[in-house]
Amino acid sequence: MKSFTGKVALVTGASRGIGAATARAFGAAGASVVLVSRSADALAAVAADIERAGGAALTVPADLASAEAAEGMVAAALDRFGRLDVAVNSAAAHGSRPTPLASIDVDEWDRTIAVSLRGVFLSLRAEIAAMVAGGGGAIVNVASTTGFEAVAGLAPYVAAKHALIGLTKTAALDHAADGVRVNALAPGPTHTESLERAGEAARSRVAASLPVHRLGTPDEVAAAALWLCGDQAAFVTGTTLVVDGGLLAGQPPFGSGW
Ligand SMILES: NC(=O)c1ccc[n+]([C@@H]2O[C@H](COP(=O)([O-])OP(=O)(O)OC[C@H]3O[C@@H](n4cnc5c(N)ncnc54)[C@H](OP(=O)(O)O)[C@@H]3O)[C@@H](O)[C@H]2O)c1
Repeated sequence: MKSFTGKVALVTGASRGIGAATARAFGAAGASVVLVSRSADALAAVAADIERAGGAALTVPADLASAEAAEGMVAAALDRFGRLDVAVNSAAAHGSRPTPLASIDVDEWDRTIAVSLRGVFLSLRAEIAAMVAGGGGAIVNVASTTGFEAVAGLAPYVAAKHALIGLTKTAALDHAADGVRVNALAPGPTHTESLERAGEAARSRVAASLPVHRLGTPDEVAAAALWLCGDQAAFVTGTTLVVDGGLLAGQPPFGSGW
């Protein structure tokens, strides 16, 4: 039997990249999958992949910047599949381009925080309520290595990812006794659309800055999310698993690269 057979897994940000890979991986592991993001067509394409592979999928197009969206996605999951066992909150907004803090537009700050932090809080609230009612569950919030180490010019994103790690710990403490585990993932540079758009030269530079000399893949991050949500991680809650090719482990010797 597949390890998530009979379970219902909800994934936000499932239209592309890490979220899409995670949704496909849960489907392949036997879960019924609820896919959430704003892009109905892209979600439908990922859901079709899951169904072609013999799985069950439900798409819920929603903007997680809106206060009602999180309640709506969980209600849709319960309505279609009757329960919620697992959630991976991967949706995030990044802001348009790196900008020094003193020049950051307030609207840009608000947009990034609305999805990448407030949206995860709202998602957690709705997901945990459903899981408590169902006897327990497991949640992964997709943070980032920028939740530990800042990147210049990305104040709203970095602030959101740092906060997400604290939010994860509090949620884990508040609901451990309810049987709900909450952990975070901190991916390093992963080959998704934004790095695809950045071009080969930029990708090579980023890869060369990592001890392993390559980018991560969405499937590698998805595998870590599945482990954190599975029975083998039953004693793991309130932690952040770093999946970064060694980025946060340290620096190259002074004056040299990797
Ligand atoms: N790729 C990396 O190198 C990397 C590294 C560290 C951490 N991460 C984190 O990993 C996660 C996934 O990143 P990614 O690179 O795979 O994808 P991404 O390109 O950052 O896509 C983000 C996802 O969030 C969804 N989204 C954005 N705004 C939304 C909103 N208002 N409401 C609902 N959904 C929304 C997007 O779908 P729609 O546009 O369809 O709404 C998309 O599915 C993010 O949390 C990111 O911060 C990524």
